[in-house]
Amino acid sequence: MTKLVGLACVAMVGVFGACGGSDSGDAGGTAGRTGQTCSTLPAMAPLTAATRIGFVQLYEASGLWRTANTNSIVDEAAKRGYTLVYNPGTTDAAQEQISRIQALIDARVDALIIAPHDETTIAPMVVAARKACIPVFIEDRGVDNTVAIPGVDYVTLIGSDMVTEGVLTAAWLIDKTGGKAKIIEFEGTIGSSAALGRKKGFDAEIAKHSPGMEILTSQSADFDVKTGYDLALQLLPKYPTVDWIFSHNDGMSFGIIQAMQELRKVPGQDIGIVSIDGTRQGAQYVADGLIAEITECNPKFGPLVFDTIEKYARGEAIPTSLMNTDRTFDSTNIASYLPEAF
Ligand code: AHR
Repeated sequence: MTKLVGLACVAMVGVFGACGGSDSGDAGGTAGRTGQTCSTLPAMAPLTAATRIGFVQLYEASGLWRTANTNSIVDEAAKRGYTLVYNPGTTDAAQEQISRIQALIDARVDALIIAPHDETTIAPMVVAARKACIPVFIEDRGVDNTVAIPGVDYVTLIGSDMVTEGVLTAAWLIDKTGGKAKIIEFEGTIGSSAALGRKKGFDAEIAKHSPGMEILTSQSADFDVKTGYDLALQLLPKYPTVDWIFSHNDGMSFGIIQAMQELRKVPGQDIGIVSIDGTRQGAQYVADGLIAEITECNPKFGPLVFDTIEKYARGEAIPTSLMNTDRTFDSTNIASYLPEAF
């Protein structure tokens, strides 16, 4: 199910007014033309097989979620017969993603799909693409909207409500524990909207149940399996009273489970884990009792991303935000979710 929030102004091809603008005065306003500068959302010509759509995925060394997200975009482009210009990248440094965005701006692609590494470093690149008259469609994570303005610098964000995911996870945990838990929080990539939002939503709900609910420590493990494993080996002996772990994604949960087993703790008995994503492995762990609860973060944005690009190219109004509605799964309903897990 899709939730619509706010409305972006849409530029018709060749018409600049309230909806689109060209600083250089270069006629036409078709995105991606060399030498043109746009002061607001660039227009987009009707899509054809020759339209080149750039895709700049953030790089993650480990991640079932990321692979599912990439496949959804790549497969949907192929299904609809569009030319996707995609270079997966090689390191998880924000600077590396910036270079890949710049390369596609220089290549004057007709549109850009960006999954931002973090909110602040990627936002200026969204502005740079808009100035180069390339319409940007952001997917998955957001950018700093005080720098890159939705409906002005980019068309829309197609993603998940990260704050709500944190709230849903906390609500489940408060209900399950009767408002008594000592929690360690494993955060995702520092500065990413996924980590910031989940922490904001979760911590705010937990704070309402203080002192019964207590977050002992909250640290980043970068959404990464190995980093989650290393951090768990370090933190679990240091905080012996911990009875629950909130992990911002399934990948870190897998590392935490391995660390717990090596420390002779039984996941789901000695310490409970609540997680976010809904990978097939994570869902199986819920069925097996190793993870107590998973809040869904659906990565399959491909169909909605391309529906949205097509609508924009037709000159239709696009909301500045298109958010998934996510669900929660535990032992009571995981069986029904398993067949659709990714
Ligand atoms: O931005 C979505 C998050 O990024 C997913 O929860 C996580 O698995 C990925 O690394």
